[in-house]
Parts: sequence; structure tokens; C-alpha cells
Amino acid sequence: MPRLSYVEGKLRALIGRTAKPQGTSDALSVHLRTISYFNFHTLKKATKNFHSNNLLGSGGFGPVFLGKLGDGQLIAVKKLSVDKSQQGEREFLAEVRLITSIQHKNLVRLLGCCSDGAQRLLVYEYMKNRSLDQILYGKSDIFLYWKARHQIILGIARGLQYLHEDSHIRIVHRDIKASNILLDDKFQPRIGDFGLARFFPEDQAYLSTAFAGTLGYTAPEYAIRGELTEKADIYSFGVLVLEIISCRKNTDLSLPSEMQYLPEYAWKLYERSRLIDLVDPKMREDGIVEKDVMQTIYVAFLCLQPHANSRPPMSEIVAMLIRNVAIVETPTRPAFLNRKRRNDKKLSWDTITDGFPSPLQSDSSSK
Ligand SMILES: Nc1ncnc2c1ncn2[C@@H]1O[C@H](COP(=O)(O)OP(=O)(O)OP(=O)(O)O)[C@@H](O)[C@H]1O
Ligand SMILES: [Mg+2]
Repeated sequence: MPRLSYVEGKLRALIGRTAKPQGTSDALSVHLRTISYFNFHTLKKATKNFHSNNLLGSGGFGPVFLGKLGDGQLIAVKKLSVDKSQQGEREFLAEVRLITSIQHKNLVRLLGCCSDGAQRLLVYEYMKNRSLDQILYGKSDIFLYWKARHQIILGIARGLQYLHEDSHIRIVHRDIKASNILLDDKFQPRIGDFGLARFFPEDQAYLSTAFAGTLGYTAPEYAIRGELTEKADIYSFGVLVLEIISCRKNTDLSLPSEMQYLPEYAWKLYERSRLIDLVDPKMREDGIVEKDVMQTIYVAFLCLQPHANSRPPMSEIVAMLIRNVAIVETPTRPAFLNRKRRNDKKLSWDTITDGFPSPLQSDSSSK
């Protein structure tokens, strides 16, 4: 591919300045094999000048376009909305190189990047079956039977385990949700957008624009006190598992009041011993192994525990999902949004705090 010669020059110059390659050419070739530098013109051509017909969607980091390279390979190009003054080219490429070094079969592969003037673009492999939100929220005709859904849940858990525990840099994803789970041609899940927060020096800048949209996935300690650890991802994973099983959004204000917030509704059903009602009716018709589905819902409840330390690490979650470890604990009430007033459609921090004891009130008796 023509882009490689350009890569080489660019990267050789950068690596020479930023890293100290040991044994020179070997160290260099490792980097060159894992990252490509794309020419802006190539990406412009591949995406038909970033035409709206090629727009796959738009998130908090910028729009994503479908592209086709000269050799026929399909790519997804993310145009980052980063102000050049905030991050220089060298830092950008250093971050891209770091993210590219994180590789796992359940993470979307970053093919390369482009930096042109103020433009910063990331190039990913295109995932044929797009993102999980399209399937869960009824925008596609694809139906996933239980075994496929279990595979997806397990794959996401393994990807997260790698990010949290096994990769050489510890990465908290911060935005685990259905639209960030992409599906390959065999419906194997791949987590997208990991490490993207690294491009945004001011964390708040991203949160203030996209926070409302992902509130339903946010762990209480992160939402209230800004405490971000991998346990926040684990909470979001718990919400996502309930979405995958019930095939609905975590928040849906068009539903009857008691069903609007998924974790809250799930817990109500659990208390009434009616958890089976949570399961996507289509999947029930198709046939499920009830015991396995229930076990998976229990795992979700463990992920949703109000206190971050009570949520199991991803390695334990993976073990529970493959049933190497039996769940002995009875789940306790998860943390979820609580509404004070019935018709109050606006969620506020207060309403979350209701269900989440602050350590500042640690002298109050816990229930
Ligand atoms: N590699 C990819 N292959 C196929 N489709 C993709 C790919 N990456 C993103 N998309 C599509 O583009 C849409 C927008 O992605 P984007 O990551 O910008 O937004 P988001 O996931 O909704 O929000 P966030 O900014 O929080 O990640 C996704 O919903 C997905 O359908
Ligand atoms: Mg995304």
C-alpha cells in the first residue's frame, strides 16, 4: 500500500525524537508493523470527501465515516474533534502508538492515523455488523439467540479484563455502552473507542458534551464524585448485560413508570421472583437455558453494587460467566437512579444520591 513509505519517514522521524529504539531497526520494524500513517488525501478519497452518505454515526469524540481503500479494504474513519492547540502532532502520534500496542481479539483494531493541519483522524477496521445498539434498540432486523448473546457478553468481559488487568498499560474505558460494542462478521464483539480519552487533556470537556447520553451507564461514585477506576467500567458492563438480555435501552421514558430504568426494574422483578419477565420475549420464544440466563443476570447485579469495592474484578466475572466459579452470594440491591417525584422526568444528581450512600455520611446506619 502506498501509505507505507510515508509512514516510514514520519515514524522514523518521530520515534527518533520520542523513543530510544534499542537495536534500532528491529525495534523500529515492530512499530512499523503495527501502525500505519495515512495520507489525508487517501482518507478523503476513501470516504468520498467525508460525504454524509458515508457517515456511520457521530459520538462525543467526532463523526465516523465508512471508507474504502484503493485495495478494497473497508475502514471506519473517526475525525477527532480535537483542538490542535491542545495536542501537538508528536503527542498525538505517541498516543496512537500506545493505543495500537494494545491488541486483543475483543478490541477493535486501530489500523492507523492521520494528522493534517488541525485534523486528527483515527482509522479502524470496519466492523461488518456495526454496533450492538442497532440490534438492541430495534434499528436492525437481526435477532440474536441466547448462545450468541452469551458469547457477546463473555467477549466484552474478556476485552475489559485485558484492558483492566492484562495489558501493559491499565486502561479504564470510561464509556462502555452498546454503541461502543462492535460486531464482526461472525458476531464476535469488539470493544471500540478504548483509550480515546487520552486525546482529551480536559476530561470534563468530553463529559460535559456527552454525559447526559450515557448517564444510565454511569457508576454512582463517578457521576457524583468523579472517582474513576476500572470499577466504573464494571458498573457500565452490568447495565449493558441487562440491556443485552432484555433487548432494550437502560432508560426508556416511554415505558410505564416502574419499567423506565432498567436496573431498577430488574431489581423489582427479582424481589417479586419474576426475573424471567426481564428476558427479551423473542429470545424466550426461541428457547433459553433459564438457569444460565439467571446466572448472567446475577453477575450483572454484582457489577451494579453501589460500593465500587463490592463489584468483582473482570477476571472473576469472566470465570462466573464461563461457570468456573459458582455464584454463592445472593445479590444485594444495586445502585440505580431513584426518582423522588413521579412525574419528574429530569434526572438530577440528587436523585442518584438517594440510592447511593456517601462516605461523608458514614456514621448513618446502613441498611
Ligand atoms: N469500526 C467501526 N466499524 C463499523 N461501524 C463503526 C465503527 N466505529 C464506529 N462505528 C459506527 O459509528 C457510530 C458512531 O460511533 P462513535 O464512536 O463516534 O459514537 P458513539 O459510540 O455513539 O459514542 P461515543 O463517542 O461515546 O463512542 C457507532 O454507533 C457505530 O455504529
Ligand atoms: Mg463509539
